[in-house]
Amino acid sequence: MTTTELADIDLLHSISVALIGEQDRRALYDKIVDAAASITGSQFATMQVLCSPDHPSGHGGQLQLLCSRGLPPEAVQFWQWVHRDALSSCGLALRRGERAVISDFEQWDEITGTEELLCFRNAGIRAAQTTPLQSRSGQLLGMISTHWSQPHQPSERVLRLLDILARTAADLLERTIAEEALRKLNETLEQRVSQRTAELMAAEEQLRQSQKMEAVGQLTGGLAHDFNNLLGSISGSLELLSHRIQQSRLEEVDKYISAARSAASRAAILTHRLLAFSRRQTLEPKAVELPALLHGMSELVQRTAGPGIRVDTLCDVALWHAFVDASQLENALLNLCNNARDAMPGGGQITLAARNLSLTVHEAPHHDLAPGQYLHLSVTDTGVGIAPEVLPHVFEPFYTTKPVGQGTGLGLSMIYGFAQQSGGQVKIHSKQDEGTRVDLYLPRHCGEVAEPEQDAAKAPAIELQRGKVILLVEDEHTMRIILSETLEEQGYQVLQAGDGVAALELLRSRADVDLLVSDVGLPGAMDGWQLAEQATGVQPGLKTMFITGYVQAAGRQVLTKPFTLHAFASRVTELLADPSISQATRADATVMVKS
Ligand SMILES: Nc1ncnc2c1ncn2[C@@H]1O[C@H](COP(=O)(O)OP(=O)(O)OP(=O)(O)O)[C@@H](O)[C@H]1O
Ligand SMILES: [Mg+2]
Repeated sequence: MTTTELADIDLLHSISVALIGEQDRRALYDKIVDAAASITGSQFATMQVLCSPDHPSGHGGQLQLLCSRGLPPEAVQFWQWVHRDALSSCGLALRRGERAVISDFEQWDEITGTEELLCFRNAGIRAAQTTPLQSRSGQLLGMISTHWSQPHQPSERVLRLLDILARTAADLLERTIAEEALRKLNETLEQRVSQRTAELMAAEEQLRQSQKMEAVGQLTGGLAHDFNNLLGSISGSLELLSHRIQQSRLEEVDKYISAARSAASRAAILTHRLLAFSRRQTLEPKAVELPALLHGMSELVQRTAGPGIRVDTLCDVALWHAFVDASQLENALLNLCNNARDAMPGGGQITLAARNLSLTVHEAPHHDLAPGQYLHLSVTDTGVGIAPEVLPHVFEPFYTTKPVGQGTGLGLSMIYGFAQQSGGQVKIHSKQDEGTRVDLYLPRHCGEVAEPEQDAAKAPAIELQRGKVILLVEDEHTMRIILSETLEEQGYQVLQAGDGVAALELLRSRADVDLLVSDVGLPGAMDGWQLAEQATGVQPGLKTMFITGYVQAAGRQVLTKPFTLHAFASRVTELLADPSISQATRADATVMVKS
């Protein structure tokens, strides 16, 4: 081996050591270009990549400069992209598909008088060679060029060494190109996935919308049907009532009066259930002791369940207080027990259970609840269970599998609305022929537990406040007449108004009004709350009371429709007699709705 050969091996060895140690792609290109310059003894060197025909830069089929050594900035700029027709060694190599050597640009006829020659001159370049970089399958990937400041013809030996370096450079470029293609694929994959997801979501939304419309249709249909029946009973009773009065058959009138009243109270229950389902019922949550509540209900449950059904109550010791509207909870549990009874025509067992439940951040989502402390109530039966195709529908309003007249299909939907509005949740589990369990989760009451309120029955009777003046604001004419007569019967003096503006006018004309009783939803720009606010401007300290069928508030100064006339009159009397009551605002009427 000659000393030159030994020197070559040494050089190649040091180059491969330098290349192996480098991870950064850019730095690798730099090292390759440096190696090319040192192999060829050139003052300048460049490495280029061949852009694919569909390159996003718009330079498809051209050579793009990856890195350079020794070139002044104008030259870097000039040769940033090199076209197939370019007058340079790389243009030539690109056209020929093989190495090109130009030993003196000044002697190359084709370039004489061109911009390119000027650029070579300005950069101080006189000679150049370009070696193609080819993949192992023979595809052209890029170029490696070296440039000399003097006329120069590289030796065979130098060119052989360059070929070896070109092999390494080509491998590196191939890897880079493959990685780039993969990255692009991933990018478009992500794009394709998100596009497809968006399409699916849109389809799902459409489906939800149509399901919603179906539910609304079902709701209005069911509602119209049930209300028609009830209105039929009421108007029929009234018609017969007026006939009997005309015929002076007064002994029969009681029968029709009670028929009409019973239909009206069934209608009231129906609207209550609907309001519960739509989560707009008036809730008065308080600290509730579940063992006492369940104990208080057990007799009623047993009575409705009948002798063939055993009712058990299991309460954990040291049960927390629940924060819930007690009477609505009783209502919900009764509904669940009725469902359980209906599912066990041949008898069986109902188990009411209550336990404390703390849900961590990890557990809570499984119950569709926020993390926190809950009371878990369950009603389990050993009945017929629910068929898998029925199960997804049981919470839908008016969904019932019971014969006509036996179920409204509002029981579970009301419980659902109630649970949601209370800040809790309801779930149902069922296996056909084995039974059903309904889980009700209710928030724990935190803080002090108030003393139980005095039993209304035991409270001393409140004296009538005869002669007091009441301003009654209600837009529904019939309702206003009925309420007004009820109050007048109690000995009160009643002023009537159909909207807020009329009410304020009346209030300005007299200073002796003792109580403002107003509907919340009023025609015109002013609702009941706003009227009350303005009314105190006219008569400071005026007592107020609201009546409403559609409000997310509660308190002593709010009476929810439908109510009995007796309840209305007593509430008015109670407020008139209580010196601590004054003007109420929306804020006073504690907002109870969580959802
Ligand atoms: N414990 C249960 N066992 C078997 N099926 C049940 C049970 N609870 C509910 N279901 C099914 O769910 C349906 C809907 O129940 P939901 O309480 O909403 O209405 P309903 O009981 O049919 O009518 P309503 O409650 O107005 O009397 C029932 O018709 C029944 O098919
Ligand atoms: Mg039911």
